[in-house]
Amino acid sequence: MPYPYLAESTSDEQTFYVITHPKFSAKISKFGGQLLSFIPQGQNDILWLSDSAILNGSKPIRGGAPLCWPWFGPAAGEFEGEPQHGYIRNLLWEIKEYQSNEQSVEINLSPIISNELTEKLGLAVNVVYRFDTSVSIEINTSNVSDKTKTVGCAIHSYFNVEDITQTSLPELSGCSYSDKVLGKEQVQTGAVTVNAETDRVYHYEQAKLSISTPSRAIKIEHQGHDSVIVWNPWQQTAANMADFDNNGYLSMLCVEAGITKGVSLAPRQEITLKQRFSL
Ligand code: BG6
Repeated sequence: MPYPYLAESTSDEQTFYVITHPKFSAKISKFGGQLLSFIPQGQNDILWLSDSAILNGSKPIRGGAPLCWPWFGPAAGEFEGEPQHGYIRNLLWEIKEYQSNEQSVEINLSPIISNELTEKLGLAVNVVYRFDTSVSIEINTSNVSDKTKTVGCAIHSYFNVEDITQTSLPELSGCSYSDKVLGKEQVQTGAVTVNAETDRVYHYEQAKLSISTPSRAIKIEHQGHDSVIVWNPWQQTAANMADFDNNGYLSMLCVEAGITKGVSLAPRQEITLKQRFSL
């Protein structure tokens, strides 16, 4: 069915949904169901995509806003050995609903997930994108089993920051965090700046934060989260990743909305994790 403003493009046998609207343009990958680009009219892309991202469906896409579910980070417990950041970055997705007008576009997508996996997890997921001059990304999880289930997730957005050495996150000042590089709990002094490998889970439950860059401020709002993850691999760790272009770490910063601690969902209970960003 043709959708207004939306065209499909194909490369490397993968499908991408390209939305060209008077207020913005955007690109969503069918593989991973993730946003790759969001450009408000007249602006530069808010998102960063690695120049050497692998887009052929053989591994999660390095950039845009990958969706992590039903856990954040390495798999543990009964799922040990399963993929880092869960399953849905590696699945194909399909459009379930699409609505548009001259002001906005809303798309609801679901992963094409086997009955076996749904049964094993006892959870179902979909994502809703709402675009205008901002974009909101919503991961909706429901417990479809008759037992209590635990879920974690993250919206792992890679922001285009032009120059990481002149980028900061002022609102996180004073916030406690787990430093995954140093392996200890810390408290943030002043705005977050990045000049080395940074992998931190900030225990920040407030809604609003922002990324200040030399030429613009990216406004971010979170809902349903227990943490904000800040990640930049820096030079050496990026060089060890085949899909991370060598100078990419200088112009990106991941600021992720996360449920990193896991929440319990009673049968039929639903939860939403949301990130919204704009200039
Ligand atoms: C971040 C994690 O969210 O994602 C990091 O905090 C991790 O530890 C990074 O390295 C990238 O993960 P991946 O699986 O996309 O390489």
